[in-house]
Amino acid sequence: MVLNASLSLVIVRNGEHWTEYHQIRRTVLWEARGRFDYDSSHPDDYLPSNLPLLLLSDKVAVATVRLDLLDDSRTAAFRRLAVVLDKQRLGFGRALIERAETMALEHERQKFVAQVARDAVPFWKKLGYEMQSEFSLGMDDNPTMVKRAGSQNPPSRQTR
Ligand SMILES: CC(C)(COP(=O)(O)OP(=O)(O)OC[C@H]1O[C@@H](n2cnc3c(N)ncnc32)[C@H](O)[C@@H]1OP(=O)(O)O)[C@@H](O)C(=O)NCCC(=O)NCCS
Repeated sequence: MVLNASLSLVIVRNGEHWTEYHQIRRTVLWEARGRFDYDSSHPDDYLPSNLPLLLLSDKVAVATVRLDLLDDSRTAAFRRLAVVLDKQRLGFGRALIERAETMALEHERQKFVAQVARDAVPFWKKLGYEMQSEFSLGMDDNPTMVKRAGSQNPPSRQTR
C-alpha cells in the first residue's frame, strides 16, 4: 500500500529496469487484454526525447509510464500507463503520474496530455485531466485528456 511504502521514480536505463518496464507493459496492457504482439524493441521507447519511467515501491517495480517531450517544447505526453495487476487501486497510479508531472515541469512543460483507455477515464479525471477530443495524439481512437500545469490535483479520498 502506498501509505507505508518507500516510493521512487527512476528513468529506465539499466537492463534490469528495462526488463521490468517491458514485463509490466506486456502483462497489463497486452496479455491481460488478450493481445500477444507486444514489441519490446519498438523504436519510440528508445528516442532521447521519450523518458521511460518506472515507479519502485520498496525497490520493487510496480508501475510504468513513458513521458514524451513533444516537439512543440510546451507539451508532455504520458503514454502506456500501467500498474501491475495485483497492485491496482492502491494509489500507485496516482503516485506515478504525480511524480511524472513534476518531472515534466522540470522540463518546462506547461501542458500534459494522455491518450487513455476508455475505462481509465475516471482515473485521469481524478487527477484533474479533462477530455479534449479535438486534440489527438494520433495513435488510435481512445480519448485524449489534457491538463494545464499549475492546476491542482484533486485530493485523494484515501488517506495515504
Ligand atoms: C488505470 C490505472 C493506471 C490506475 O492506477 P491505480 O493505481 O489502479 O489507481 P489509483 O489507486 O492511483 O487511483 C487513483 C484514484 O483514481 C480512482 N480510480 C482508479 N481507477 C479507477 C477506475 N477504473 N474507475 C474509477 N476510479 C478509478 C481511484 O479510486 C482513486 O481515487 P481516490 O484517490 O479518490 O481514492 C491502473 O488501474 C491500471 O494499470 N489499469 C490497467 C491498465 C490501464 O487501463 N492503463 C491506463 C491506460 S490510459
